[in-house]
Order: sequence, then C-alpha cells, then structure tokens
Amino acid sequence: MKVWKKNLIAAAILVTVCAGIYVNWRYTEDQAAANLTDTLDTEKVMSDDNLVLSEDMAAISAGEDVATTSTDYFAAVRLSRQYGADETQARVAALLHDCTKKLDLPQQLSLCRHYAILLDEMERNYLKLLHSKTGAAVARDRFGVSDEIYNAIFYHTTGKADMTLLEKIIYLADYIEPSRSFPGVEELRTAVHEDLDRGLCRALADSIVELQGYGSPVHPNTQEALSYIQREIGGTIE
Ligand SMILES: [Fe+2]
Repeated sequence: MKVWKKNLIAAAILVTVCAGIYVNWRYTEDQAAANLTDTLDTEKVMSDDNLVLSEDMAAISAGEDVATTSTDYFAAVRLSRQYGADETQARVAALLHDCTKKLDLPQQLSLCRHYAILLDEMERNYLKLLHSKTGAAVARDRFGVSDEIYNAIFYHTTGKADMTLLEKIIYLADYIEPSRSFPGVEELRTAVHEDLDRGLCRALADSIVELQGYGSPVHPNTQEALSYIQREIGGTIE
C-alpha cells in the first residue's frame, strides 16, 4: 500500500477516535449538568435569605406585622406595590433570583455550558455574576418562569441599559433589602421609595464606586445601565 494511503487511513482513524472522545466528553458533561439540576434540593436552590421566608410566611399567616422582615422578597413585593408592577411576577422573581447561589464555580460553569449561556471573560471568573445567569436558566427550565421573570433574574447583579420595571425592582430590592447595612443604605432606601429611577441611578453609581474601591472590574452592563438611566432622568445624582 502506498504511503499516502496509509497516512490517510491513519488520519481517518485519528479523527474518528478524537470525535468519539469529544462526543463522550460532551455527553458526560451534559449528564452531569442535568443531574445537577435534577438534584437541586431546597437547601441548594433557595438561598439563606429565602430559607428565612418560611418563618416570614408563618408571620403573615398569623397576621403579624412583617414590615421589618429581613428578606429582599418583601422588599420586592413592597416596591412592586408602590410602583404598580405585577406583584405575582415580582414574588416569583424574588423567590428564585438566587436559586443557584450556593453552587460553586465549576458547577456554575457546568450549568452555563448545559444551558448554552454565553459568557464574557469577566463573567467566567466571577461567581457573583454567574449565579444570576444560571439562576435565570434554572428558573425557566425547572420552574417555567416567563421571559420577564427570566430577565429580571438574569440581570439582577449587573443591571443593564433600558431595564423594565420588574428588572429595576428585583435589582433594587436585592440592593436595599432590610438586612443590608452598608454606609448610605438608608439614604438609598429613601431615594428608591421617593423615585424609582433616581434611586436606581444612585444604586448603580454607588455600586460602581464600591467595586472600584475594591479594585474590582465593573461589568459593562452596569456602566451601560448607569449611563442609560442618567440620560433618562436628565443628569447625575448628588
Ligand atoms: Fe443574587
């Protein structure tokens, strides 16, 4: 047999073997990600904040005052009532927004591949940014949420330009919920309840200053969110 034929056969065998290895790897990883969503139990799906919910729900059932409850769930509900958003959507989004927060980085990345979530360089390395994306995907896949709720969860850590009312509410509720105690949070809460867009502007600006103070990069979506809302309200917030 001529040499070129031998080489051709060898190359064909090599390609076939590599293709088999690749298909097997993808199948194994897909299975692992699928198993991950299958085995997400309440403790893994619900964050600490949301686990507190059961106690608060008991308080509601008993007719107790829950105004001081320390969950962003109730912050979202209050904001949705004040600003006329769909309260049911706000409740569902608030309940599920951190549903994958307890998963580690390899698990987050596995879910991103499983759900074909495209990531930029920054997102690949920041767990905080990943859980909003995987949380949205799991919320839609496992709980069948609407696109509106999906997007509110997806952007709850970064914000984005031209946010919907629900997206603003979930972003801000997460930021100002009563257990937060960072300097300036009271002023921010007041601003949010006086004017949602001006409150959002302040929250985004504060978030960027805080990240820069830590030497952390700021996601482009957050920068774009701030620029957009500044144009909307016609200026910056002092
Ligand atoms: Fe979160």
